[in-house]
Amino acid sequence: MANTSDTVLVIGACGQLGSELTLELRNMYGGSNVVAADIAAPKQADLRDSGPFEKIDVLDPKAMGELAAKYKFKQIYHLAAVLSATGEKNPKFAWKLNMDGLFNVLDLALEQKVEKVYWPSSIAVFGPNTPRQNTPQHTIMDPNTVYGISKQAGERWCEYYFEKYGLDVRSLRYPGLIGYKALPGGGTTDYAVDIYHKALEDSASYECFLSENTYLPMMYMPDALKATLDLMHAPAEQVKVRSSYNLSAMSFSPKEIAASIQKHIPEFEISYKPDSRQQIADSWPQSIDDSAAQQDWGWKPAYDLDAMTADMLLNLKKMKEEQAV
Ligand code: SER
Repeated sequence: MANTSDTVLVIGACGQLGSELTLELRNMYGGSNVVAADIAAPKQADLRDSGPFEKIDVLDPKAMGELAAKYKFKQIYHLAAVLSATGEKNPKFAWKLNMDGLFNVLDLALEQKVEKVYWPSSIAVFGPNTPRQNTPQHTIMDPNTVYGISKQAGERWCEYYFEKYGLDVRSLRYPGLIGYKALPGGGTTDYAVDIYHKALEDSASYECFLSENTYLPMMYMPDALKATLDLMHAPAEQVKVRSSYNLSAMSFSPKEIAASIQKHIPEFEISYKPDSRQQIADSWPQSIDDSAAQQDWGWKPAYDLDAMTADMLLNLKKMKEEQAV
């Protein structure tokens, strides 16, 4: 259950997940109780107008300490990270931001007696020697991107802080996330968002950076928000995995998402020009076994590929029409 008197901090609030999660949290906890924080101010009007914003660099522990002293947060959602494709361009910086950022948040939470911390992990924790179908919760993990290595290490540290210091930190291994409100920032699964935007342009065509039969686990944003909030509101004793939970909704290939779009836009065309992201995708699972999340806190997704496509196209069309007036 949500304790509506809690003050909540969302770090990375302007990102693909943060911009939607912050609004959901504000609906639950009240706008003024949920502080959106990011390195730059929000562009989205609903995010800007619905509650406080604080400019923060997660690599600046002093500024974070001052912020926490000001608001006395009960919960922190730490979403700021460099994703898989961007991380490969500057591995040292990705490591620094993803790891030092996490340490700063975990230490702050201990110092300021924050009650709960949420930190996202990813399917990127798996690697070429991981079983690729129905990837189990506990299995071989040999990530070969700096993003994946930082998420795997982060998982170990989250569990460590829980076991050694009793910090209530909770985490999900997100698949590729797809939403219409904000664009993702530099991931390997981003094609599955871009393709809907391109389908609604006059040319109705998309050149995909992954090959046609590349299957990856994916999830529609409303399911990701529900999973995150369900996990954070589950009684602590039900949260048995303290590294990060496998989480699944659907798996599809570029060819299949294109076919799903063609049911609404028959003239839509897809072509394929794989780039360096293909290699990353080929090292990740194709589908995920999330039975631990189902058993421990009752996880169940609502959207499959066709339901997501219908909703994405409807909402993107609406947004385009609103922008046109
Ligand atoms: N969506 C992320 C990426 O592609 C995976 O967690 O980097």
